[in-house]
Amino acid sequence: MKKIKIGVLGGFRGKTMVDWCLQNKESAEVTAICDCSEAVRASVQKTLNEKSSDAKLYENFEDFLAHDMDAVVLANYANEHAPFAIRCLERGLHVFSEVLPVQTPAEAVALAEAVEKSGKIYVYGENYCYFPATLEMKRLYEKGVLGNFEYGEGEYVHNCEPIWPGITYGDPEHWRNTMSAFFYCTHSAGPIIHITGLRPVKVSGFEIPPDARSRSMGARGGAGGVEMVTLENGGVMKSLHASALAKNSIWYSIYGTKGRAESQRECVFGQSTAKVYLMNDTEERGGEWAQYCPSFDGGEPYSGEFGVEGEKFFKAIQRGESDPRFSFGHQGSDYFTMDNFVRAIQGKPANIVDVYEALDMAFVGMFGYFSALAGGAPMEIPDFRDKTVREKYRNDTRCCDKKVAGDMLLPSSSINNDEIPPEVYRTIRKKYLDSLK
Ligand SMILES: NC(=O)c1ccc[n+]([C@@H]2O[C@H](COP(=O)([O-])OP(=O)(O)OC[C@H]3O[C@@H](n4cnc5c(N)ncnc54)[C@H](O)[C@@H]3O)[C@@H](O)[C@H]2O)c1
Repeated sequence: MKKIKIGVLGGFRGKTMVDWCLQNKESAEVTAICDCSEAVRASVQKTLNEKSSDAKLYENFEDFLAHDMDAVVLANYANEHAPFAIRCLERGLHVFSEVLPVQTPAEAVALAEAVEKSGKIYVYGENYCYFPATLEMKRLYEKGVLGNFEYGEGEYVHNCEPIWPGITYGDPEHWRNTMSAFFYCTHSAGPIIHITGLRPVKVSGFEIPPDARSRSMGARGGAGGVEMVTLENGGVMKSLHASALAKNSIWYSIYGTKGRAESQRECVFGQSTAKVYLMNDTEERGGEWAQYCPSFDGGEPYSGEFGVEGEKFFKAIQRGESDPRFSFGHQGSDYFTMDNFVRAIQGKPANIVDVYEALDMAFVGMFGYFSALAGGAPMEIPDFRDKTVREKYRNDTRCCDKKVAGDMLLPSSSINNDEIPPEVYRTIRKKYLDSLK
């Protein structure tokens, strides 16, 4: 099977994908990495030297784009993926996009058209669909163990206060500071959509107001966003995501007509999304009630009670002792996004999030914010598989990014847009610079 030559744009988060290529040399080879930051390039170069890789480093995207490669990973700024994806598709490259796929409805039209025109593989890297628990919930749902979807919840709450200096550098215009709280929605909504295969059709959005924590971080959006979503079969989903609530949570729950499956909350015993709770009335795992740590492949090698033993067990799987795929970030999910991307390019069966599903996931937050700005009024979520539906959105540049929105610029918050004093950014910048010493 041909080795896929991969280029990576953005070497901070992109380092994960570089590592994947360096550890999976039989199927892929990282040939080029581009980052405009000298510090990031130096860090990537160090890894390449350690692994004896001769991948070339670029500072400039245009030079990088001319490099000999088959596919590109986009791990650049989260609000700038679509224009870069379109350039890469036009150049005949397969594209893996980090979250989010687009920041406006107009970009969504252009991206869908570019993917269709190119005939290339587009994969959306929503890694939270590939936790042991979310993979198992998908397997259970597809097998009919849970029956038909009636209600589900997805949560991605990450109190980013401690890491904010390192990920925004005190730049007031960094996307994490300018975005609405609804933008980063696919870690919470995405897995429920992917597990059930159901399209979101309607959303009401509720902003958790900016709070003292978010404002001291320099984030102009709310502390979090909540979307109440109707799926195409009439079932209902709640999606909660936040970067400034006090405590972290990653958690998914699905109620079907025959049972309920949910992941363990991230914080409990540190096992997090490695564990599933299943309540059902079929024969699956004896019926009624089960709690177990599924293998990635749907088997059940890990079981039993946790507590202290569980803690040891979880540390072992994190070190990749029981399954080397667990050594990849985000509970091994970072292995699967890349693995499935490469498999799709090679024409093998692959579990991917394609461009239409990526837009379904992103529209939950985008139209959720349009709803919040309209006082929570329900908004229809368009289906971009239908080309006629797209026309209405072709020139719709509504977003919080002033470089893109033109006269459709949206505020970062639907509740409070008081200016954040410049000292806040100076303080964050100082913390960032101090951390480099
Ligand atoms: N899926 C996940 O779990 C997860 C986790 C962290 C980050 N991310 C995503 O990864 C992406 C990157 O986030 P990040 O945390 O690395 O921070 P970031 O967005 O600040 O970093 C982007 C990197 O890309 C580089 N870059 C941006 N535009 C460039 C250009 N035109 N030319 C060359 N280099 C350019 C920057 O120098 C920087 O190093 C985002 O899309 C984010 O949403 C995903």
